[in-house]
Amino acid sequence: MTVRVEHFCTVTEEYPDANIGTAHVNICTVSRRVSSVPPAACILTGMDLASHVDDRSPRGIAATVARLVRGGDLRPGDRLPTVRTLAADLGVSPATVSGAWQALSAVGIVISRGRAGTVVLPPPASWLPPRYRELAGGAPARLDLSTGTPDPELLPLIGPALSRVARQRPAADTGAYVTSPVVPALEVLLRDSWPFAPQRITVVDGALDAISRTLERVAGYGSRIAVEDPGFPPLFDLVDQLGLERVPVTLDRHGMRPDALERALDAGAGVVVVQPRAHNPTGVSMTSTRARELAAVLRRHDALVVEDDHSGEIASARDVSLGSLLPDRVVHVRSYSKSHGPDLRIAAVGGPASVLDGLVARRMLGPGWTSRLLQHVLVDLLTDSTAIEAVAHARRVYHARRRALRDALAGHGITIDPGDGINVWLPVHDERTALVRLEAAGIRVAPGAPFSADGGQPAGPLAADAAEGGHVRITVGLLGAEVDDVALALALAAAP
Ligand SMILES: Cc1ncc(COP(=O)(O)O)c(C=O)c1O
Repeated sequence: MTVRVEHFCTVTEEYPDANIGTAHVNICTVSRRVSSVPPAACILTGMDLASHVDDRSPRGIAATVARLVRGGDLRPGDRLPTVRTLAADLGVSPATVSGAWQALSAVGIVISRGRAGTVVLPPPASWLPPRYRELAGGAPARLDLSTGTPDPELLPLIGPALSRVARQRPAADTGAYVTSPVVPALEVLLRDSWPFAPQRITVVDGALDAISRTLERVAGYGSRIAVEDPGFPPLFDLVDQLGLERVPVTLDRHGMRPDALERALDAGAGVVVVQPRAHNPTGVSMTSTRARELAAVLRRHDALVVEDDHSGEIASARDVSLGSLLPDRVVHVRSYSKSHGPDLRIAAVGGPASVLDGLVARRMLGPGWTSRLLQHVLVDLLTDSTAIEAVAHARRVYHARRRALRDALAGHGITIDPGDGINVWLPVHDERTALVRLEAAGIRVAPGAPFSADGGQPAGPLAADAAEGGHVRITVGLLGAEVDDVALALALAAAP
């Protein structure tokens, strides 16, 4: 197909085979774009783009395009010059430009549409907080191991539970505004399985909801919060959004490091948020010895601990909690997202009445309670033998998938800690290079930068001053038969 291309509506050019679906395509210059806003997508000329490029390396060219997109000079749908054209105009090899296009595509700024060229993508939804956006950005891939979500095939079937709950006469409690927000049968199950005896226990809409509401209760604007480094990116977004200050605490293979925690508490952190097991992204679980060491540090300070047991029942490690050592100082959160399904949106929170009563009271003036119908479904899933076995099976499969990737990586000379949960944290020689190489292999993983608790804003993967090194996070929980191929691709991606 041949498309007529208008050059600012005066000059026309022929673009053979440009399957872009419209005959009204403008050839634009970045500088003119500011004053004349064309009605249709633009094709940027090589000469024009070349005039903006100072650094002719793949990284420099990619950074120039990323800047133009961020600044609004290039817009979604705009087409970049062909690799050959730009290479000729810049006086570099086509491989250099191709490397830049791949880097941009790896972070979701552009997408290659084959013969139709390379096109600027719309930014990911603006309703996503910044680190979520970084994690969500990126081109679709053959194998997406970036999500951090459970394998849908390994969740217990919800249909039978729904129909069993539907067959029961609607429980009186499902329509009441002022009865307890927790279904009594669920409270019994939670208390029986809680790692310590909490004064209060309630149910909220997911672990992040629990953490968010707890921080809102206990931390005023400007308060310091100790967070794991690396840690869960949306937690950092939350802390930033609440006007709190992050104090990073490093980990080792036994959990948070006591000396690092001590420093954070000395620096004035009044709340510590910690993942007790299957830490995202590293897979680390807190040992009982480490829990005692951390409790000793905490006893010397006056800080509240929020434990985010986000993996819950799919973790293989024990549910070690600081709550058994410091019961009046620990809010323990257990999510059912990974074990029973993220869309249940249920997490339980147990801890001191001084925190939980206020949390429940505040929720009464918002959502009120977490759907009791769904709580009944969870009660069913926690007591039905088939559902219990499905979760136990998922736990075993996740463990086996982790071990398979670990063994396969060992075959390429890469050693990773056993860890727990559905994510693997892989050190790489250069994060951006690794992402580009994996994308070329059709594999998407999460960039490591958003997991860093250090710094103000999340480090953009194309930040010009970003140093070499870094990590990528692989959701191994989604990795089935392709493990050997993926291990090879990871080994190549991680190499210098
Ligand atoms: C560490 C961590 N905390 C919290 C969450 C959010 O869990 P929920 O779905 O219960 O809100 C996740 C989800 O992956 C997580 O990894």
